[in-house]
Amino acid sequence: MKNIVIFASGFGSNFQAMIDAIKHGKLHATIVGLICDRSGAYAIERARINGIPVALFERSASPSKVEMDKAILNQCQGWQADWLVLAGYMRLLSPMLIQAYPRHIVNIHPSLLPKYRGLDAVGQALNQKDSIYGLTIHYVDEGMDTGEIIVQVPFETDQLDRDHIEKRLHQLEHQTYPAVINKLIVEESV
Ligand code: GRF
Repeated sequence: MKNIVIFASGFGSNFQAMIDAIKHGKLHATIVGLICDRSGAYAIERARINGIPVALFERSASPSKVEMDKAILNQCQGWQADWLVLAGYMRLLSPMLIQAYPRHIVNIHPSLLPKYRGLDAVGQALNQKDSIYGLTIHYVDEGMDTGEIIVQVPFETDQLDRDHIEKRLHQLEHQTYPAVINKLIVEESV
C-alpha cells in the first residue's frame, strides 16, 4: 500500500474526496498525513474527524520559506510518504522539496492549463467570457501550474455564473482526482 500526504490550505473538499474514495475501495492508498499552512482551514477538521495526523506549518512561524519547506520535507519523510498530493494548497513548493519527490507530486488546478495559471482561475476565465471550462491534474515542477499535464477534463457551459461553474468543477474534481491518483499508484506497482 502506498502512502500519500495531502497538502491543503482551505476547505479541503478534494481531501474529503480522497478519504471517501479510500473508504469505498476506489483509491488503494493510505493517507498518512495532512500538511496545512492555515490554522483556520476546515481541512484540519476533516483530518481530525477521520483520525488523520495533521502537521501545521504557518509561514509566520518559520524564519524562511526554505526552512519551512525543509521542515515539511522532514515531516513527509517521517510519515514515509510515497506521493504528495496538492489539493488547494496555496503556496509554491521550494525546489528542494520538489526534487526530493521526482514525478511524485501532483496538483489539481481549476482551468485548462496552460490557460489561467495562478490565483482565481475561474475568475480569469469568466473575465474572458469563456464558454469552455475545466480542470487539469499535473505533476508539480518549480513553476506556477506549469508541470507536465496528466489529465484534463473540459466542460462547456453558457451559464457564465461563478457559483454554477465552481459547483460543476468541484463535482468533476471529486470524481477525477482520486481516480487519477489511484491510476498513478497502480501503474507504479505493476
Ligand atoms: C480546487 O478547486 C482546486 O482545483 C484548487 O483549489 C480548490 C480547492 O478546493 N487547486 P478544496 O479545498 O479541495 O475544496
